[in-house]
Amino acid sequence: MFLIKDKEFEPARFRRDIVGIKHKVPTLRKKRLQYINFDNAASTPALHPVLHEINDFLGWYSGVHRGTGYKSLLSSQVYDNCHEIAGKFVKADMDNDTVIMLKNTTEAINKLSYRLALTTGDIVISTVMEHHSNDLPWRRHKRVEYAGVNQQGQLNLLDVEAKLRHNYPKVKLLTVCGASNVTGHLNPIHDLAEMAHEYQAKILVDAAQLIPHQPIDMKPAANPRHIDYLAFSGHKLYAPFGSGVLIGPKSTFLKGAPEYTGGGTVSMVTSKDIYWGGLPDREEAGSPNVIGAFALAQTIKYLQKLDMQKLAQYEDDLTHYAWNEILKLPGVKMYGAFPRVGVITFNLAGIGHSLLGSILCYESGIGVRTGCFCAQPYVRKLLEIDENQEKVSAYLEQNPAQLPGMVRISLAAYNTKSEIDRLMNSLKTIIASKGQYKRNYRFSESHGHYVPKCSQPLKLQPVHN
Ligand SMILES: Cc1ncc(COP(=O)(O)O)c(C=O)c1O
Repeated sequence: MFLIKDKEFEPARFRRDIVGIKHKVPTLRKKRLQYINFDNAASTPALHPVLHEINDFLGWYSGVHRGTGYKSLLSSQVYDNCHEIAGKFVKADMDNDTVIMLKNTTEAINKLSYRLALTTGDIVISTVMEHHSNDLPWRRHKRVEYAGVNQQGQLNLLDVEAKLRHNYPKVKLLTVCGASNVTGHLNPIHDLAEMAHEYQAKILVDAAQLIPHQPIDMKPAANPRHIDYLAFSGHKLYAPFGSGVLIGPKSTFLKGAPEYTGGGTVSMVTSKDIYWGGLPDREEAGSPNVIGAFALAQTIKYLQKLDMQKLAQYEDDLTHYAWNEILKLPGVKMYGAFPRVGVITFNLAGIGHSLLGSILCYESGIGVRTGCFCAQPYVRKLLEIDENQEKVSAYLEQNPAQLPGMVRISLAAYNTKSEIDRLMNSLKTIIASKGQYKRNYRFSESHGHYVPKCSQPLKLQPVHN
């Protein structure tokens, strides 16, 4: 059991629970430096107490749902409970909703795009600020309208409403991210839900970037501000074990056939007919990722012991601190506004995003992310790049690392101000070098990123610290 006092958030304590937090990594100049992970929006590390729980459970693990042995029965019960734990964590309406365990947010949104069984003439309203995973699955239905953003990249709520009104009653779904993976902007999901419901549309919230930062309350189905569908990934919530979640009304999934069929989805099969099983089984074809679901549920239990409001406050302080420090740099351009979760994107004059990312890795042992973050239309908008066909075809011939983009640092509740200070020192040194680093690096087509000219690229293997 977790040794945390209920409803506390103690940053140092949380940091100690992070797997690999003390790892040092090789760099060019010094032998090894303690690694700083500022790429939490991509994925978060695991928690030691959860690893212990997994270790204990592995001895009891067996195939679920069809086995008759004790371990199968126990594993089935544990696995089924994981659904309830995930649903309750976001205050899903458990009478109305089903919780489906999948691989990640991308799979969850793809599933929903299939299961909504949209027909010609139906319209989905999305936004310009979405991750490709909450954009491309809807495009196969052809009619997607994109609500715009203002110059800082904040969602234009009036545009959302205008699109709902103009297309009424054809709009079946409004789909928005809870928080952006590019600017960290928070969308007012309950206002948007109310708006969608007024026009008889449903709302999907892509909570991939919201879930690690703030408590989520889907609210009861009868509440006009409730969230109809919610998707999130375990690996962005300190549970990198291959599980994700889709929550939505049972009625959506009881209609028609699931997109994946096979073992576990049926109650009866004859040579001619298929009788689908109950929920969520019919939506979880094949043998499920029991350990992944268990890890997610244990992580949720751990997080439920924390005071999420305090955690959010700690992250907010850290984000303001980092923002204000980066803003002081000469030649910096920063994107977006507040309120936001701990995602900060910027560019430095005279040094490309990809090169900067590589220098931070090779010289400073700091992990960031660069490029367009799987949100190319949004990033182009923020960079004020005109999307015309000529440019797009020219872009297609280049390596993505050489295309326009940004540097992103994404913070989590285990990061510290002293880590930000180390980043700032590195950035100041890079700026002061007046292009020296630029001369020391070359773009490697085979690696897809910049590497130092003087030495071999770093040998990539776990280092025993
Ligand atoms: C806002 C947002 N939505 C969806 C996704 C896709 O998540 P996953 O790769 O876990 O499916 C991401 C991943 O970065 C994201 O940031």
